[in-house]
Amino acid sequence: MTAVGIDAIEIRTGKLELDLAETFAPAKGDDPEKYTKGLGLHASSFPDAYEDIVTMGANAAHRLMERKGLTPADIGRIDVATESAFDNSKPVSTYIAGCLEQVFDEDFHHANKGERKFACVAGTQSIDDAYNWIRAGRHRGRSALVIATDTALYARGDPGEATQGAGAVAMLISEDPDVVELSTEQGFGSADETDFLKPNQQFPSVDGKRSVQVYLARMREAVRDFESVAGTIHPDDFTLLPFHTPFPGMVRKAAALAYRHTIRDTEIEEELAEDIGRQPRPEAFDSDEAYVDAMGEYTDELVETDQYRDWYDRVVDPTLEISREVGNWYTGSVHVARASGLKHALENDMDLTGATLGVASYGSGAQAEVHAETVQSGWEDEIAALNVDEQLDNRYSISYEEYEHIHDVHNHDKDTDAEAEAFTPPEGEFVFDGWGRMGE
Ligand code: HMG
Repeated sequence: MTAVGIDAIEIRTGKLELDLAETFAPAKGDDPEKYTKGLGLHASSFPDAYEDIVTMGANAAHRLMERKGLTPADIGRIDVATESAFDNSKPVSTYIAGCLEQVFDEDFHHANKGERKFACVAGTQSIDDAYNWIRAGRHRGRSALVIATDTALYARGDPGEATQGAGAVAMLISEDPDVVELSTEQGFGSADETDFLKPNQQFPSVDGKRSVQVYLARMREAVRDFESVAGTIHPDDFTLLPFHTPFPGMVRKAAALAYRHTIRDTEIEEELAEDIGRQPRPEAFDSDEAYVDAMGEYTDELVETDQYRDWYDRVVDPTLEISREVGNWYTGSVHVARASGLKHALENDMDLTGATLGVASYGSGAQAEVHAETVQSGWEDEIAALNVDEQLDNRYSISYEEYEHIHDVHNHDKDTDAEAEAFTPPEGEFVFDGWGRMGE
């Protein structure tokens, strides 16, 4: 069977940076470590006044196509995953295709375009749709362009405000991919939940604490469902484990539960239970409550063990490096985590060809999806081509007052007199002027 998967990746960050420890925490009167240690975030990316989900997505897709030497004739579908859409009828992919047609001397009239919505998991769902389209043989030799683009903004004063972010990830899905092949096996955990939603409103209504529990519950279901088709998983099955990363502290919790689950009935569990002095089996407790409490204590001690720390530092921590500097990108977040892990491996001369990644996507509302990916031989060139470090270094660092200004500029609901003052000059890129034209 021909391999199908991710052939190329481009990351486009919003061009402004809000430093959480230096700028956000003092303005809020908070201890900076709540953000840097508790949430695990250093900074958020924000869109400048002339950036939005269309320009960030189009700029990412443009660079990807140029780098791969593609023209519109090579692309058979464009799917945009977003939860920041501004149009209930016309999909964001049409706006992005319109931008790209300005720079390629060809149109995308032949390409099927759409927009996928299921909170943050929609980026992965779009990849699945592209995978299925190619597997079904309907692609006529063409590739799919999947763009996950969001401005993840919360109302000012919302507890989620520190986790904001903005950026786009463009991915090319093709036969014989250069980066990763996707597994046919998938696991899902899905339920009707109302902890995070945006019914006809720009900023989410969030029950933050509950959203953490719902993430963990759906992820647990997805892991079990994945095991029901792929077989029991062991912590060492995966070289990297990119999770949906609203903030790295969330992944710390999810990784601990994943590890606890995957070491069950193994020698590792026996050894650790002995070291910790606890028995992690339900039979040992006389009520569910006592079991849950004991499991919590067992997990707290488990994550302090050398075995766990070594596993976490190798398999999970590398996937969080970019996220720490950019915040939550909603649909792009798990794809940033994958790129971050691969970039770390490249920078540390690791040979990942043939290695397995376990990718754990999640979207509020709520659905988790788990699948495996096999790293392909072209991964090094593709990851080396990313210019994400340069983009991060070039961000303009905003003061708290400038943050309030730019937050108002991007607040569609606010009748604000904020002038759309930009902090950076656009350079040969798509800029928002109502129609997404190229800048100077
Ligand atoms: P909060 O309630 O303000 O923070 O916001 P907290 O008091 O829970 O503190 C956060 C952590 O910092 C805690 O660590 C504190 O102990 C620690 P934990 O106990 O959880 O391990 N802390 C400190 N550490 C060191 N020094 C200090 C200090 N102070 C506190 N001084 C909350 C947290 C998650 C509620 C908030 O960020 C929020 O509402 N976020 C938005 C919702 C969210 O991201 N949920 C995550 C799961 S749902 C999801 O991922 C989907 C999503 O991406 C949307 C989609 O799918 O579309 C959001």
